[in-house]
Amino acid sequence: MANQFDVIILGGGPAGYVAAIRSAQLGLSTAVIEQEKLGGVCVNIGCIPTKALLHSAYIANLLKESKDFGVDAGSVKTDYGVAMKRSRRVSDQNSKGVEFLMKKNKITVVKGTGTLQPGKKMKVGSDVYEAKKAVIIATGSRVKGIPQIGLDINKTTVISSDEALFLESTPKSLAIVGAGAVGMEFADIFNAFGAKVTLLEALPRILPLEDADAAAELVKVYKKRGIDVIAGAKVTQAKVGKDKVTLDVEAGGAKQQVEAAVVLMAAGRAVNTENIGLKETGIQLTDRGFIKVDPNLQTTAPGYYAIGDVAGPPMLAHKGSREGVHVAELLAGQKPHAIRYDNVPSVTYCHPEVASIGLTEDQCKEKKLDYVAGKFPFSANGRARGSGETEGFVKILRDKKYGEILGAHIVGAHASEMIHELAVARENEYTVEEIELAIHAHPTMSEAVAQAALDSLGRAIDM
Ligand code: NAI
Repeated sequence: MANQFDVIILGGGPAGYVAAIRSAQLGLSTAVIEQEKLGGVCVNIGCIPTKALLHSAYIANLLKESKDFGVDAGSVKTDYGVAMKRSRRVSDQNSKGVEFLMKKNKITVVKGTGTLQPGKKMKVGSDVYEAKKAVIIATGSRVKGIPQIGLDINKTTVISSDEALFLESTPKSLAIVGAGAVGMEFADIFNAFGAKVTLLEALPRILPLEDADAAAELVKVYKKRGIDVIAGAKVTQAKVGKDKVTLDVEAGGAKQQVEAAVVLMAAGRAVNTENIGLKETGIQLTDRGFIKVDPNLQTTAPGYYAIGDVAGPPMLAHKGSREGVHVAELLAGQKPHAIRYDNVPSVTYCHPEVASIGLTEDQCKEKKLDYVAGKFPFSANGRARGSGETEGFVKILRDKKYGEILGAHIVGAHASEMIHELAVARENEYTVEEIELAIHAHPTMSEAVAQAALDSLGRAIDM
């Protein structure tokens, strides 16, 4: 039967397309159903284009300081439209790359909107596809507004990252609601491109999931750059006018108003679980609205799996991709390693970058763990001084008795790259002594990792 495959995957984002490639590598006939471009939010309107824009922002900020480095770049002019178009080209290249990988791995891509049906079937338009082994749901998530306080995304004065990524120019003033990864990254971008940015976060501090020291460092840097950072600030109501939005904000027991030409909603995402046939196939949701899965990512309906954002937090591309590999290997009869959800790196790609793995210091305290913190600032690192990137630090939290790395936090240039030394260490249960034992090249920013490990042992050399 032409429409029969071993595995059918609904959604071609970083969870779905990776599951497809791994399935095909293992000899399973595979189809991916995708209604838009391959690559999902990550490639088309998320991770990839934002990284291109953040690099433009980095260049803008660098050029503003270039005189100090003996390079007079004259007066620096920025053009968001040009940066945006470049980011689109980068995105398209990546999406085409995914298309190529589908062909290379002989994966059938069906263009259209799929709906699950009982009996491991999938309906796309008038066609029905049948999976011999399993259906994998990887439908991802989407931006959300807060309509109950008047912040419905209208795509002009109240926008989401979806629209911000396609703007032709920078708004004069921008209020960002939410200082998680999305809010922090766009604050960086639009500040560098000349907008007056106000960042509002309801919880007591920005980047609430990161270590308190990391958040404090970013507040310092952002304020210095002229970004208005207001934490503990809940937006309670919005008045949306034709060319401005007025936000009622409650902060520190007092009420204030914030006005901006445009409001960017960065207050979390909603999962795409509606109208895909979950009820009809007996697939249940958790209390928080994610698809309920067992440790093997199988849903409450046998033969249907869920991966990526729909399967629960953290809503990160690399977590979804790992789940895709995991399910594909299970379906091919392998016994993949259990996914260590406590060892998923988290990165916010603002400048300086924030990267972490494992527990924060507050979590160590809450769990009453006997820990020691080691910390090393980049201001004491030769390589960082050379490149003028001395903001931030490496902080390692180690178990006092066994030296196990409980958590690690890096704020600084290239933190997103440096965190993986600590990810490998934690995955393999290396101790801080074992990290330091590996000789770190000099001069590198990674030396700060070794020095933070040493500091946790009370014997940092360079500080
Ligand atoms: P988020 O959930 O990480 O952060 C949203 C923030 O908005 C929270 O801190 C919340 O307290 C705040 N908030 C909610 N309502 C508010 C109100 N009325 N007033 C003020 N603040 C309010 O969501 P975000 O940043 O939108 O990201 C969505 C998902 O996408 C997350 O899971 C995130 O990890 C992921 N993502 C990851 C990126 C990365 O890895 N670099 C980049 C972008 C997104």
